[in-house]
Amino acid sequence: MSSKTQLNWSRKVVVYQIYPRSFKDSNNDGIGDLQGIIDKLDYLNDGTEKSLGIDAIWLSPIYKSPMIDFGYDISDYLDIDPVFGDLEIFDRFIKEAHKRNIKVIMDFVANHTSDKHIWFKESRSSRHNSKRDWYIWKDPKPDGSPPNNWLSVFGGSSWALDKRTNQYYLHSFLPEQPDLNWRNIEVKTAMEKVLEFWIHKGVDGFRSDASYHLIKDDQFRDDPGNPNYKGPKNSYKRFLHIYSQGRPEALDTINTFCSILGLHKDKYIVSEAYLDIPEMTKLYKACSNGLHAPFNFNLISLPWDAQIVKSHIDNFEASLNKNDWPNYVLGNHDRQRVVSRVGKKRAKLLAMLLFTLRGMPFVYYGEEIGMENVGLSSDKQKDLVGNRLTANRDGERTPMQWDESAHAGFSIVKPWLPVGEKYKDVNVKKELNDPISMLRLYRHLIHYRTHNHVLLHGSYRSLGFGNRNVFAFLRELGDEKILVILNFSKDEESVSLPYQKAKVVCTTNREKEGETINIKKIILFAYQGYVMEVIE
Ligand code: GLC
Repeated sequence: MSSKTQLNWSRKVVVYQIYPRSFKDSNNDGIGDLQGIIDKLDYLNDGTEKSLGIDAIWLSPIYKSPMIDFGYDISDYLDIDPVFGDLEIFDRFIKEAHKRNIKVIMDFVANHTSDKHIWFKESRSSRHNSKRDWYIWKDPKPDGSPPNNWLSVFGGSSWALDKRTNQYYLHSFLPEQPDLNWRNIEVKTAMEKVLEFWIHKGVDGFRSDASYHLIKDDQFRDDPGNPNYKGPKNSYKRFLHIYSQGRPEALDTINTFCSILGLHKDKYIVSEAYLDIPEMTKLYKACSNGLHAPFNFNLISLPWDAQIVKSHIDNFEASLNKNDWPNYVLGNHDRQRVVSRVGKKRAKLLAMLLFTLRGMPFVYYGEEIGMENVGLSSDKQKDLVGNRLTANRDGERTPMQWDESAHAGFSIVKPWLPVGEKYKDVNVKKELNDPISMLRLYRHLIHYRTHNHVLLHGSYRSLGFGNRNVFAFLRELGDEKILVILNFSKDEESVSLPYQKAKVVCTTNREKEGETINIKKIILFAYQGYVMEVIE
């Protein structure tokens, strides 16, 4: 099997991220589960243009977990948490997804386990336990303080003192999430077995959690202060985390993952790390068989400016090698929802950008209907991270809004998090019937993209012209050209183009679709975007 054949599916798909607790509850406990996801697969792709049309699902963790970080704290990598189902239902889920040509990507949380994992229980039991070195243990400093100044991403020191053996263990995230020691060969072997286990169950790929944290400095040097930092004193950002994460050896670990996937047919892995272009380039290079990409999260954080977005995409494209496959993300379970960040009109423009760029678009469940973050009073918050830092992530994890019935059709009982206040207007059922809804725009763009070889395989080239509020680019394959024009401004804008005529495929306000228009000069409404097939 050549690596080109292996890359096939990753080069074609739109990936839909499901946060399983919040997608669909099938057993009336107020929490989403695997059977609920199976019940909704037809919504995602039933093979017709009536469904959303995505062709891969990334499942946030469903493994056994005490749920301190809602599944990102795993106590058994080889089993499903009963709240979501069991291995038998998982097999059914894989079968049903594959029946609909939907690929399945599992979350792979390799940096840390739960403190309830048997490995950690053994490791902490004595300094001489055979699993002691599976985690990162260090003596206190002479004054009893932590071994160095490393910080947890979730606030405070990343060291926790374990009184039983009077040593500190490292936790890059919550204290209940001790970091595995990836310099220990037994850890590597054990985790390789985890990958193999799920590959044999039929999964098609993985999303590697916290990839940049996998390896730490072997000399445990203090992270230096960040000279440019001006914010609050206790922020994570006050240090440059050059020793506690992002070590060059982390790339070897990613390479190990790729090599394992390379032994099997048609697999893929995407790693989580919030990086700029030079760092993303390093991660692309880490994997020699092209089966891996780092997430590109930059569309989440870039300022709202057509020229900044354009130059990011130009530079990102220029940084990629032939085998590297780009990807773009507008939101996920850790970041404020896109409509809450930028508003609905701008979110539609970003959706148009997402599905017309080269690469792999990621859609976070509910984004396609324009779900917004839900504000929660502190007594209702479930995400423990919110108690340690200001950012609470519950708001972007609320139940999927299916219809206008009680609890938005997510469950017949009170859900684990409240449904969004606007659910009677913002829901799947209603938006399916509304030709200018966010859902119908997503659906149209996804189906067009999936069946259009220029968007799937064509090149990318941005266009420069006088108007700095408008970002336009071409996707080209042979003689065919698809033109995308996006007005980032709140005002009407006009642009002159070096083309005469085009057929309109999609506009953000859904007007003129199917029409042939003159495009020598084109006027765009506020935040309006066009996708067109250039005729001449
Ligand atoms: C990743 C996950 C996040 C989790 C953290 C620790 O950043 O996306 O949800 O809390 O890792 O596992």
